[in-house]
Amino acid sequence: MDGNGRWAQMRGRPRLFGHQAGARRVREIVEACPDLGIRYLTIFAFSTENWRRTQVEVAGLMTLFRRYIQKEATALLDKGVRVRFIGDRDRLDPKLVGMMHALEEITSGNDLVNLTVAINYGGRDEVARATKRLAREVAAGRLDPEDVDAETLAHFLDTCLLPDPDLVIRTSGEARISNFLLWQSAYAEYEFTPVLWPDFTAAHFAEIVGNYSARERRYGAVLS
Ligand code: FPP
Repeated sequence: MDGNGRWAQMRGRPRLFGHQAGARRVREIVEACPDLGIRYLTIFAFSTENWRRTQVEVAGLMTLFRRYIQKEATALLDKGVRVRFIGDRDRLDPKLVGMMHALEEITSGNDLVNLTVAINYGGRDEVARATKRLAREVAAGRLDPEDVDAETLAHFLDTCLLPDPDLVIRTSGEARISNFLLWQSAYAEYEFTPVLWPDFTAAHFAEIVGNYSARERRYGAVLS
């Protein structure tokens, strides 16, 4: 969800104004999923690198996450959305972590759209945390190192219950992955759009998904 800061700056407003506008966009994009045939949507809300931003911006984003959960919980529940969070919760405020957990619990019976929100998430950090958990199993004698393969490691990732992404969309004209779902995106298609996230509508989303549907995916094989 890139481009919130620039969107605000273009309007002479503080960066948080852009994040607030960005948060309002999320609802429209989530609601567009069923018609587009999308059952899994993952949004990148805060990276492990975002702590380097000013204290005002970080605190503002954390407040925005709490408000978002408070404000949207009922609508998400009613619309059939199951919410999950990925990322390292250890560095997050316990109150926010409690709210994240509660939202996961109350929406756990839903299955129309599976919305995953990445907060304090980094692909490398996720693989490192998964490796630590895997190493503990080996040290405890519950896992034989000879049995470790890609599937074993994937089992320890935050995303262990989610399918790999088919399509990764980055807004705002940047053409970088920025540590997002590194392991899981091995065969994902990428789409980069110049549109800033607060301007990204359901129509933009539908157009990109349409382009994706026209692509042929080979997964390393040769198709006739
Ligand atoms: C990146 O844009 C955006 C973020 C770091 C924050 C994204 C968070 C939201 C949209 C809030 C919504 C959250 C939820 C949980 C629904 P940027 O600040 O890097 O923009 P810039 O590249 O223009 O500076």
